[in-house]
Amino acid sequence: MKLLVTGAAGFIGSTYVRVVLDARPDDDLAVLDKLTYAGRRENLAEVEGRITFIEGAIEDPRVVREAMEGCDAVVNFAAESHVDRSIADQDVFARTHVIGTSVLLDATRELGVSRYVQVSTDEVYGSIEEGSFTETSPLNPSSPYSATKAAGDLLVSAHVHTYGIEALICRGSNNYGPRQYPEKLIPLCVLNALAGDHLPVYGDGRQVRNWLYAEDFSRAIDTVLQKGEPGQAYNVGGPDEEENIEVVRRILELTGRDDSLIEHVTDRPGHDRRYSLSSDKVRKLGWEPLTRFADGLPRTVDWYRDNEWWWEPIRSGEYREYYERHYGRSLR
Ligand code: NAD
Ligand code: TYD
Repeated sequence: MKLLVTGAAGFIGSTYVRVVLDARPDDDLAVLDKLTYAGRRENLAEVEGRITFIEGAIEDPRVVREAMEGCDAVVNFAAESHVDRSIADQDVFARTHVIGTSVLLDATRELGVSRYVQVSTDEVYGSIEEGSFTETSPLNPSSPYSATKAAGDLLVSAHVHTYGIEALICRGSNNYGPRQYPEKLIPLCVLNALAGDHLPVYGDGRQVRNWLYAEDFSRAIDTVLQKGEPGQAYNVGGPDEEENIEVVRRILELTGRDDSLIEHVTDRPGHDRRYSLSSDKVRKLGWEPLTRFADGLPRTVDWYRDNEWWWEPIRSGEYREYYERHYGRSLR
C-alpha cells in the first residue's frame, strides 16, 4: 500500500508512522508536514530512511496533489492541536482544519484515492457530565480548536455524501506518551517537575480527561483505515478517566517531588469539564487499548527523563516565549 500521512512530524502522526512500519514493513510511506513549532524532523529520525518526507502545507493544492499522486490512502493528522493557542489566535486553526481538510478531500476525489481517514478528537462533542459520547451524539464544540476540527469532520461527511468518496473519521480522546510537545498538560508538568518548577493547574483541577496512549490510538486509526466502513465515524476512548489534579499528583510522585509545586492558576475560558468516549464501535473492528494509565504514565515520565536531547531545544526556543506569554512567568 502507498500511504500518505499528513502531520506526521508531530506527536501522534510520528507514533502512527512507527506503528505502521512495524506492522507492514513493505508499505510505501510518504509524509507531508508544514513543520510548525510542533512539527519536528527529529520525531521521525528513527524511520528517516524508510519514508519520503515532503515539507508543505495541506492547504496548498499544488503540494497536496504532488504528494497524493499514486497513493492508495491518506491519513490526515495535520492540525494545530492546542486549545489555549486557539483561544489566543484562531486564524491558523481555521486555515489548517477547514481549508486544509477541504483541499485534501478535493484531491482525494480528483485523484481517485481509495481511502481517506480524518484524525479527529472527542472535543468536537463538547463536555459531558455523565456517561460517554457515541458516534451519533451531536457535535457541540466549545473552543476555536474543537469548532474548526468539527468543521473539518463535517466537510468529510459532506464529501462522502455528495461525491461518494471512501472517507472515515476517527475521534480520539486525550493522548499522551513520548514526543508530545510540552504545551500539553502531561509533558508540561513532567518537565516542570523535573526542573523543580511550579505545575500550573487550571481552576480547581477537577476536570476529567479520558487518557489514551498514543500507540493505542495509532493502532485504532490503522484498524479504521483497514477495516472501517466508509462514511462512518469511530470513537477511540482511552481505558482510564482521571481528574487533572490526580494526574498532576502522580507526576509529582513519579518525579520525586511534593505537592508544594502545585499552583492553581486562572481557569481556561470556556474550559470543558469532562470528556468521555464510548469505544464500542471500534472495538467491534477488533481494536482494544493495551496500555492502562497506571503503566503508560511512568513510561512517559521515564521517556522525558531519558531524552533531554529532545526537549531541551524546545524549552529554549519558541516555547519559552509562549510560556511567558501564556502563564505570565518564566520557565526555570
Ligand atoms: P501536534 O501538534 O503534535 O502535531 C501536528 C503536526 O501537524 C505537526 O507536525 C505540524 O507541523 C503539522 N501541521 C500543522 N499544520 C499543518 C498544515 N497546515 N499542513 C501540514 N502540516 C501541518 O498534534 P498531535 O497531538 O500529534 O495531533 C495530531 C492529530 O490528532 C490532530 O489532528 C489532532 O486534532 C488529533 N488529536 C489529538 C489528540 C491529542 O490529545 N493530542 C487527541 C485526539 C485527536
Ligand atoms: P491539554 O493537555 O491542553 O489537553 P485538552 O485541552 O485537549 O484536554 O489539557 C488537559 C487538561 O489539563 C485540560 O483540562 C486543561 C488542563 N491544563 C491545566 O490544568 N494546566 C495546564 O497548564 C494545561 C496546559 C492544561
